[in-house]
Amino acid sequence: MFQSIITEAKKKILLSNNSNELQQVKVEFLGKQSSFNQEMKKISNLAPEERKLLGQQINQVKEQIQILIEEKQSLLEEKEQLERFVKEKLDLTIPSIPTTRAGSIHPITQAMEELIQVFSKFGFVIKEGPNIESDWYNFTALNIDENHPARQMHDTFYLKGGHVLRTHTSPIQIRTMLNEKPPFRFIAPGRTYRSDSDMTHTPMFHQIEGMVIDKNIHFGHLKYVITEFIKDFFEQTNIEVQFRPSFFPFTEPSAEVDIRMNGSDKWLEVLGCGMVHPHVLKNVNIDPDIYQGFAFGLGIERFAMLKYGIKDLRQFFEGDLRWLKHYNFSAFDIPTLAGGLTK
Ligand code: PHE
Repeated sequence: MFQSIITEAKKKILLSNNSNELQQVKVEFLGKQSSFNQEMKKISNLAPEERKLLGQQINQVKEQIQILIEEKQSLLEEKEQLERFVKEKLDLTIPSIPTTRAGSIHPITQAMEELIQVFSKFGFVIKEGPNIESDWYNFTALNIDENHPARQMHDTFYLKGGHVLRTHTSPIQIRTMLNEKPPFRFIAPGRTYRSDSDMTHTPMFHQIEGMVIDKNIHFGHLKYVITEFIKDFFEQTNIEVQFRPSFFPFTEPSAEVDIRMNGSDKWLEVLGCGMVHPHVLKNVNIDPDIYQGFAFGLGIERFAMLKYGIKDLRQFFEGDLRWLKHYNFSAFDIPTLAGGLTK
């Protein structure tokens, strides 16, 4: 009787094709409802001698079946694992599918990074200042006193308590000169604000301030640095630079700089500059008889427009994804002078 059960079990174990089927065989022969358990129930009716014998026999058979199932189980597991390895195989060397969803660097950030690179060549370090300024830093210390007409020209956003949104990056000149000791050679990029909005003005725009103060600085240094940085930034030699006399309260003499590219007949104004006014140096406790220097201020949007061919200033701030994608400056293309500023 037991022999036939074993034969039957062997057959079913052999025919099991996967762990699930094998599990069912296990339940059938070794589970609570199995024929062994039915036999066991009868055992109590037997004489003690027979009882012992039958019990031993049943246990031996169960053990035998148990071993057969375990052997088969490990064979099946091995087989199933191999099948999974084949089915789930990944080729990690296949290049990834290019995604069109990567972000890009905004043209203003790009131009700013490029300008910072160019100025680092001349040893300029970076300074910063707050967007909300006191009237004194934004105007008075820069030799623009209360009745000066330049205050009206700046279309200032006035805040409570004598504060303003800085109308230019020039207050960073004052902050840096007050906080540190000369000599100075820095640029200061940042946001600036004027209450003005039309085709060529936005209420918020970006400037880079530049300043050099030392013992023997003269207009020649100013001219050299400005001319060279413009050529470096635009990455071309076919560019003319012209200095035109102008006026700023904080520089004397002052000049505006125009550029002309590729033999065009149009001069384009790109920045303001000049030798730092002695009043400004005195305002920050620097002796103008010992230290002199120059300063300049440029609009980053203007430089970006000229270099990348952007036609309308307002597009910078519309956040139009199609526009951003068009310029598509990659975060991985870090501007360097050796490797090229723009890829
Ligand atoms: N601050 C001036 C402006 O915003 C630019 C400037 C800076 C001019 C430094 C001269 C020197 O127009």
